[in-house]
Amino acid sequence: MDKIRITGSISPNPLKGKIKISGAKNATLPLMAASLLTDQSIKFTNCPRLADVFTLETLLNHHGVESTFAGNTMTLTASSIKDHCAPYDLVRKMRASVLVLGPILTREGHAEVSLPGGCAIGTRPVDLHLMGLEKMGASIEIDQGYIKAKAPKNGLQGAEIAFPTVSVGATENILMAATLANGTTKLINAACEPEITDLVNCLIKMGAKIQGIGTSTLIIEGVKKLSGAIHPIVADRIETGSYAIAAAMTGGELELVGTSLDLLPTFKGILEATGTTFIPVENGFIVRAPEGPIKSVDMKTAPFPGYPTDLQAQFMALMTLADGSSNITETIFENRFMHVPELARMGADITLSGRTATVRGVGCLKGAEVMATDLRASVSLIMAGLCAEGETNVGRIYHLDRGYEDIENKLKACGGNIRRYRDGDTVQNDGSAKENTG
Ligand code: EPZ
Repeated sequence: MDKIRITGSISPNPLKGKIKISGAKNATLPLMAASLLTDQSIKFTNCPRLADVFTLETLLNHHGVESTFAGNTMTLTASSIKDHCAPYDLVRKMRASVLVLGPILTREGHAEVSLPGGCAIGTRPVDLHLMGLEKMGASIEIDQGYIKAKAPKNGLQGAEIAFPTVSVGATENILMAATLANGTTKLINAACEPEITDLVNCLIKMGAKIQGIGTSTLIIEGVKKLSGAIHPIVADRIETGSYAIAAAMTGGELELVGTSLDLLPTFKGILEATGTTFIPVENGFIVRAPEGPIKSVDMKTAPFPGYPTDLQAQFMALMTLADGSSNITETIFENRFMHVPELARMGADITLSGRTATVRGVGCLKGAEVMATDLRASVSLIMAGLCAEGETNVGRIYHLDRGYEDIENKLKACGGNIRRYRDGDTVQNDGSAKENTG
């Protein structure tokens, strides 16, 4: 099992340099699912090489999609759908696999997808996905852990669908289903994350008729067929925010390229309140750590354009070193504080009350053995390790590989002392790992 070792120091060990931000994982996954909507090829550029992307590629291959993935360019061609069932052993590896449901159902009239189940951060239900499809005339049955969906004989029908809760995945699933439905579909209280805007832009290139881009009301007029497209995937705003916070925590300065502050409106304001500064540059921005102590700031997560839940753990890591106390409230997921006990092992002072964590800044953190519990928690532990005195070893980093392309090299290139090694290996002082001779 791989681990990552970070050697930090309390004397400032600032990250300095330039990092190229990769394409967004949470845009790539729905865009890949959209390839099922057409029998022509879709070519994605700026496609991140991540475990979740490879997992979904395997599932799409199972459905009969031909794929090539060289460098950061992926081409997908669903000439025909060979298998209409997304099996448990593939779906359980990556919950977003449920996004194949809408596309296969609207194109083929029937689909079976294993219920994705929950994960570490919550139960992650899909009731809103199913509610939307039923409003479009689908009959849905849950049988032996599978969603079995059938469209009416003449296909899915356009409908007005108001989401009681903002759901990124449900918006994406229904949006894709509506592109080939009969008539017009209106989505009310739709999610409007940049990843959804990216999906809408790609669907329009494919010939879909969609209005309301970037708003919480989307109107989709179904068409008979969609064509292929070439689409550059939007930058990953969560990766962007993660490295921005790393710069702030380590007293450093980073130039983040291939991204934009427009993707992080509320995040920018919250970080500026901590004393962090942002300077826009061509194709990105420079982020500079606070001149003096990091100021404590309260934060509450919310759907876009609010502060992203996927940057909550990283912000908490920053607040562990702040000058004062900060209240962080997680409003999206019911169990997204599993990084708290791990940060506490490093000396952080955090108390929990329901969905609010109160973080009292401490002078310094100390390196420790810690365990990644989910994707974003894992990066918050790495960032804490960069500022901690001594060595931090992070276990279960398969979580990390799901969402951060080449993170060690990106941080190493900016002065981070970070090494990946096989558990049981002895890591040499120079950071190279050698077989465990013990
Ligand atoms: C997407 O998950 C992202 N994943 C998540 O990123 C992100 O945290 C989340 O949106 C919120 O922004 C991908 O895009 C692949 P939701 P999703 O449906 O679509 C409830 C990461 O770290 N809900 O917007 O699953 C749900 O329980 C991951 O990259 C229902 O009740 O999130 C949650 O409380 C983690 N019924 C809230 O809505 C449903 O049918 C928001 O969930 C669907 C969701």
